[in-house]
Amino acid sequence: MSAVLFPQHVIARKRDGHALTREEIAAFVRGATDGSWADYQLSALLMAIWLKGMTAEETAALTEAMMRSGTVADLSSVPLPKVDKHSTGGVGDKVSIHLAPMVASCGVAVPMISGRGLGHTGGTLDKLESIPGFRVNLTLPQYRDQVARIGCALIGQTAELAPADKKLYALRDVTATVECIPLICASIMSKKLAEGIDALVLDVKFGRGAFMAEKQRARELAQAMVAIGRSVGKPVRAVLTAMEQPLGRAVGNALEVAESVDCLKGAGPADTMEVTYALGEQMLLITGAAPDARAARARLEEAVRSGRALARFREIIVAQGGDPRVLTDPSALPRSAIAEPFVSREGGWVSRVDARGVALAALRLGAGRARAEDRVDPAVGISGLAKIGERIPVGGLLGVIHASDPAAAGEARSMLAEAITVGPAPCAAPGGLVDEILS
Ligand code: URA
Repeated sequence: MSAVLFPQHVIARKRDGHALTREEIAAFVRGATDGSWADYQLSALLMAIWLKGMTAEETAALTEAMMRSGTVADLSSVPLPKVDKHSTGGVGDKVSIHLAPMVASCGVAVPMISGRGLGHTGGTLDKLESIPGFRVNLTLPQYRDQVARIGCALIGQTAELAPADKKLYALRDVTATVECIPLICASIMSKKLAEGIDALVLDVKFGRGAFMAEKQRARELAQAMVAIGRSVGKPVRAVLTAMEQPLGRAVGNALEVAESVDCLKGAGPADTMEVTYALGEQMLLITGAAPDARAARARLEEAVRSGRALARFREIIVAQGGDPRVLTDPSALPRSAIAEPFVSREGGWVSRVDARGVALAALRLGAGRARAEDRVDPAVGISGLAKIGERIPVGGLLGVIHASDPAAAGEARSMLAEAITVGPAPCAAPGGLVDEILS
């Protein structure tokens, strides 16, 4: 029988800079899950980890213990390879919504468990819930059955999956211990590995609109997550993508769903499709569904051109109780009381569209939440956003503000005026968003 590991001894070992053993890490995770460690003891160890770091072995042990703190979904009855995509979060990042049905229509299953928006980045669940009737709270058996039946389910975190993460994330949020690569890595990977997937593709964003602004830090996080995959025997690839200006032209829940539908109809914005295809290619490559990137790209493009990807999204919407008219009639999505143009006072070229500034304007409109318990307004946000490098005449449209009240619209207008710069000199559109692929 193993000796009792007192929380204060484990905390002291990390405080003094030692690497924790698997048993010590297991005791910590058990303590978070069954309540046998007090919040102050969990928080003290989180801070010690933040200060002293963790080795790759400790991070892998933490991830595995957190993954096993609840149910690990068993999708072995699904005969297709199963791959998910996870993004570390950006502004206007609606890619999951159209990428999942696209890839699922190419002979690969996509079981996708997503999160809600918090702070300046949006969440896939909030976006999906803007589709009238769409249910994201399926049970694990319903999730498994839907993946077996139509190759894809888009759901929210259930209480059974990685419960230790729920407890630890809530403590990290209030103890200044969120920004810590081993803790972020274990948090993300434990939830993803509990989904029952065979492989995972990560979109790790860097830049002003990203959770990790610095490219080098984003790269370290990507490397750490790929290494976890290696240590648990699941292929993981990470695509590093830039997030300086919002992705696409829409920021806000229903507005982003409408843009995702455009993507499935072959009319998506170029930057959004660049990231979509880059991630989709990796999803088909990692599962062996395509022999090389060219073939993967051709399959994905064909899925869009033929309407198969859109048809798969329809099936998902219907299966999850949503109104499929959103695919043909934009008025089936929630609409705001106010939709007013935001125009440029100057003529010239758009030289800056600050993703964080636009996100904060959308947050002010009610599109996101500042605290976990806040409600989001599905209809509000900004559409038709100008992109860097575009030429704009005096009075030209820089975006449309969708608001529920005039005061919020006015404040969002001032915030957008700060976030968007139109200058006199021609300005090139930024080059490719995909910086590097790590595997
Ligand atoms: N997203 C997560 O799920 N966990 C983190 O720690 C950070 C971002």
